[in-house]
Order: sequence, then C-alpha cells, then structure tokens
Amino acid sequence: MSDTQPPKPDSSAPPAGAPFVGPGPDLLTDHAYDGIQEYDNPMPGWWKWLFVATIAFSLVYVTVDVVSGGRHAPVVAYEQARELELRLQNAKPLRDDVNSLLGYIHDDKVRSAGAAIFAANCALCHKPNGSGQVGPNMTDDVYINIRTIDDIPRLIRSGAKNGAMPSFARMPPNDIIRVAAFVASLRGTNVPGGKPMEGVAIPPWGSTAPMTMPSTTRPATTRPATLAATLPTTVPAK
Ligand code: HEC
Repeated sequence: MSDTQPPKPDSSAPPAGAPFVGPGPDLLTDHAYDGIQEYDNPMPGWWKWLFVATIAFSLVYVTVDVVSGGRHAPVVAYEQARELELRLQNAKPLRDDVNSLLGYIHDDKVRSAGAAIFAANCALCHKPNGSGQVGPNMTDDVYINIRTIDDIPRLIRSGAKNGAMPSFARMPPNDIIRVAAFVASLRGTNVPGGKPMEGVAIPPWGSTAPMTMPSTTRPATTRPATLAATLPTTVPAK
C-alpha cells in the first residue's frame, strides 16, 4: 500500500488532495469508523512511566499516612509549629509590675517587639511615632488615664472612653506588656508637630510609691501558675 508513498510526509509538502500519510502503515489500527481508519497513536513512554510513578507514590503516601495516623499532614505540622511558637513566646511570662516595666523600657528585645506590635495595632490612631491622631499624644509628659507606668498595660487590656480606645484584652499577655513598654519609652520624645497635650502632667516613670513596693506583695494571680494555663488564652480569637 505504501510502496508509492514517500516514507517521510514532512520531507516535502504533499500534493494537493493527497491522502494523509502517517509515518508508516504499521501504525494504523484495524479499527475504522465511518470510513476513517484509526491511527495508532500511543502515549509517549515518559507519560506512561509518570502515570505509573504517581500510582506508586499514592500507595506510599497512603501507607505512610495511615501508619503514622495522619501525623505528617501539613495542617498538623502547622498546628505543631504554632503551638511551639506560642510556648516559646510565653515560656517566660513577662511581668507587668512597675519595676519590671521600667526594666523592659531599656530591654531592646522587648522594646523592638513592642514597636512592631504598636505599628501593627496602634499606629492607626496614635501615629507610628506615638505623636497622636485619634488617640492622644504619648510623647509628652501629659496623660489622660495614666498615672503610673503599670497603668499602661491595664489600660491596653481594658480600653478607655467607651471603646474609643479599644480593649486589647485578647492580645497575647506578653505582647500587651511589650507594647506597654514601648509606649512608656515614647514618653519625653516630644515629637514635633504632635497632637496638643491632653490631660495632666504626671511624675516621671517609677518616681511614685508603687516603685518602692516589693513586687512580691502583688497578688500571685498576675502570673500564670503554669505554662499550660497561658496557652488557651494566648490564641487570639479571630
Ligand atoms: C481606634 C483608635 C485607637 C487604637 C487602635 C488604639 N488606641 Fe489607644 N487610645 C485611643 C483613644 C481615643 C485614647 C484616649 C482615651 C481617653 O481619652 O480616655 C487612647 C488612649 C490610649 C492610652 C492612654 C493615653 C492617656 O493619655 O491616657 C494608651 C496608653 C494607649 N491608648 C495605648 C494604645 C496601644 C498600646 C494601642 C495598640 C495596642 C492603642 N492604644 C490602640 C484610640 C486608639
């Protein structure tokens, strides 16, 4: 049949009206439908092997997943990583007494973490540098609700002015203290062009009675009894 046909149809353009000619008659199947003969066009070898490989992989995957009880699932790995992160974050609960807060102001790790928290949650109302917008200026020596440094974490938890200053009680406890230390450190930076003073001038941080009060007289409940006790409350509800 193919004696008169050129073996390579692509070597030159076929004459007009010439029947389609494949690489050879042996690649035509016996099957014809409506006078159209089926061309034997097998999947390429790499494709078949890829197919076999996916089946093999699925068997390994299912076996590992069943044997390990789903421990390798990405969502489980994510949960574990997050729990670990929370544990690390809260392994050492920060304290919110006056002396601790005074120390955190000069602790670069605490302060810089606080700055990041402030930029993300507070800058909208207080400006990134704390000079005030909706919320008051916190770079001067005048405060509305604050009298001593430990009023700051309290106020961040409770909010103020019927929610004009929102409550951040659901923020992780350590983050509240970090951002409080950052806010305290803004005092006296007197950023030019800040919001006019609101409230009353208060003595420098730590110069009032609470500073000399030994922190051991504070109720033990300010510190979680166990690490586990801190975990459920530290997940910010969305
Ligand atoms: C939606 C706007 C808004 C956001 C967000 C906000 N604040 Fe405020 N904040 C205010 C307002 C308004 C006041 C003034 C409340 C008042 O007049 O009693 C205030 C007051 C304060 C005060 C007391 C200042 C004073 O002079 O008494 C502190 C401290 C404070 N905010 C810290 C924060 C921190 C920290 C964050 C972020 C975790 C934050 N605020 C987020 C609006 C906001």
